[in-house]
Amino acid sequence: MDFELKTLALAKAPGQRCDLLVLLVEESFAPGADALSSLAAVALRHGDFKARAGSLLQCYAPPTIAARSVLLLGAGDGSPVAVRKAVLALAGLLKAGVSRHVVFAFGSAPGPDAVGVLVRCVAEASYVYTTTKSKAESRTLARVTVGVPDVARVRVAFDTAVAVVAGVEFAREWANRPANHATPTMLGEAARSLARHAGISCKLHGPAQVARLGMSAFMAVAQGSSEPLRFIELHYQGGPKTQAPVVLVGKGITFDAGGISLKPAAGMDEMKFDMGGAASVLGTFRALVELRPRINVVGLIPSCENLPDGKAVKPGDVVTSMSGQTIEILNTDAEGRLALCDALTYAARFKPKAVVDMATLTGACVVALGAVRSGLFASDEALAEQLLAAGEAALDPCWRMPLDDEYADGLKSAFADVANVAGRPAGAVTAAKFLQRFVGAWPWAHLDIAGTAWKSGSAKGATGRPVGLLVHYLLAAADAAPVRRRGK
Ligand code: BES
Ligand code: MN
Ligand code: ZN
Repeated sequence: MDFELKTLALAKAPGQRCDLLVLLVEESFAPGADALSSLAAVALRHGDFKARAGSLLQCYAPPTIAARSVLLLGAGDGSPVAVRKAVLALAGLLKAGVSRHVVFAFGSAPGPDAVGVLVRCVAEASYVYTTTKSKAESRTLARVTVGVPDVARVRVAFDTAVAVVAGVEFAREWANRPANHATPTMLGEAARSLARHAGISCKLHGPAQVARLGMSAFMAVAQGSSEPLRFIELHYQGGPKTQAPVVLVGKGITFDAGGISLKPAAGMDEMKFDMGGAASVLGTFRALVELRPRINVVGLIPSCENLPDGKAVKPGDVVTSMSGQTIEILNTDAEGRLALCDALTYAARFKPKAVVDMATLTGACVVALGAVRSGLFASDEALAEQLLAAGEAALDPCWRMPLDDEYADGLKSAFADVANVAGRPAGAVTAAKFLQRFVGAWPWAHLDIAGTAWKSGSAKGATGRPVGLLVHYLLAAADAAPVRRRGK
């Protein structure tokens, strides 16, 4: 989909040719003398339309207005949350596929945040997954024009949002694909496709190289599957070579059946989303391609399937991780931490400024926080603050969880340095404590996205979270305004 930002005074909006002209009307709206203002003013006066966020009134081909259809959309106080609510009220209309070209105009000049949220929410509401459907009911909304009185004021926010949209859609696409259409090999190819862009390079490590690196914890997960594992390494270089990178690590289990500790059948299909962390790394790199901030970023994705088999790892097996620590695998369904621990050890070679890992790690995190906020665990106060702030700014929020050492008590093992599971209490925290053993002296954070990476039920599908959070964090870390876009 094409987003364009252009100068449009409210008085000129009635002349816009398009399928649908949407006027966002805030509670503070002061109508001008133009046709659109008059329409809104009359509707407000009669009470047929309210400026409350999400209220809408559609009018077909009103005289003196060039658009085929006009829609008045209440935008409340104009805050990002109100704008999101307003656009989500439009979702049915945007998905219905009647309008190819939609123009957004504003009753009151919008701030940068409102424009960013508008772009991201329009994309979110109109996204359609098509890859494995035989008849393409593809997205018909092809062009979105955002018309504002002062382009310069909102340019950076607009460009950032368009890049986040590209990243979120890349992440949603890969996470939505069924496991047989998103194998570790295919994820590797997706990473390689990103490396066609300037500033990005990619290394794919196969089973032999991973064995040479000594990643036996990761290999133990993969050994029950006939799909070969991949350890994917992406590099984005936007800063000087000497600048320490931020390392992003994403759990890339393309299907998690639980292994010998087999999961129940109901809902097991959703374990194709168990590479949501990996998808968020790929999506973030997709956004970096557009934004080119002055920062260095490394992406690491341990990717494999977790299946039961005659060759699969068994409860009680002990493996030696790349760090040298031995691990007793008491439950083969706690596989994410086994794949991630070797990736965290590998991260040391980059002498990182910070390491952030994303993983659909625990059902316990879904119980704790639901689908609203991702779980944030951080060993460093400054990094925690930055990620919390980025989540708020991106409307992709997270919530700080504890890392007290007492939570690690249950991970003791009689036969190895550590066990891969503790008891049921605080399962999201004990998983984080396991990971923390493999982190070096650098600031580290872990985002448990088990509740936020996808939706279940009738709206089943990947959300692309936390790409928004990560992009905002990286931009803030690079202090990257003004944004340079590709080709400009
Ligand atoms: N991928 C799952 C976590 C998960 C479960 C995410 C349900 C979203 C919904 C992970 O590999 C897993 O199976 N975790 C176990 C850990 C347990 C064995 C300690 C879990 O959460 O049950
Ligand atoms: Mn599992
Ligand atoms: Zn898993």
